[in-house]
Amino acid sequence: MPGPPEIGEILVQSDDLNHRVRELGRQISADYTGESILLVGVLKGALFFLADLMRAIDIDCEVDFMAVSSYGSSTESSGVVRILKDLETSIEGRHVLIVEGIVDSGLTLSYLMKNLGAREPASLAVCSLLTKPGRFKVKPDLKYVGFEIDDRFVVGYGLDLNQRLRNLPYVAALKQ
Ligand code: IMP
Ligand code: MG
Repeated sequence: MPGPPEIGEILVQSDDLNHRVRELGRQISADYTGESILLVGVLKGALFFLADLMRAIDIDCEVDFMAVSSYGSSTESSGVVRILKDLETSIEGRHVLIVEGIVDSGLTLSYLMKNLGAREPASLAVCSLLTKPGRFKVKPDLKYVGFEIDDRFVVGYGLDLNQRLRNLPYVAALKQ
């Protein structure tokens, strides 16, 4: 079945996503053995990643969500971040793992780290499915990364272009 016309090269196939996400789940379970963790999913891009990752984690865990919008164009973030939806509970004294779909400039994540860090969690770390190291404007502190990709705008597995194409089961670049 041909994909949508905007889609160019597939960068991460569905099988590779599944495999890597299970690996990350095992790693996280090992690193936090004996602890309880709170996964904080960043809406909406982390949607499928979070759902799959959480099922691959076999230690005590809970989930909550934040929604943020970074003002800017559809393919470039500005660093000015607004919270659209905040956490439901206090994270004071808890082990918090932020689960992100993609880190591009790092500006959104750096804002989130500062914001959540101020709430005095026991620990705060980040797991991002994808990063674009060539694009970092601030070097993000990423404990877990699924895949490093080139400087290209990607869609699928939760990531969107103007809210569309999140439902693709793979990660693909747009046509050049
Ligand atoms: P940053 O602040 O530049 O790191 O951008 C982070 C946010 O921009 C992510 O949470 C995504 O919502 C969005 N984003 C950045 N790059 C991409 C991409 O290649 N595809 C889809 N969304 C992206
Ligand atoms: Mg988006």
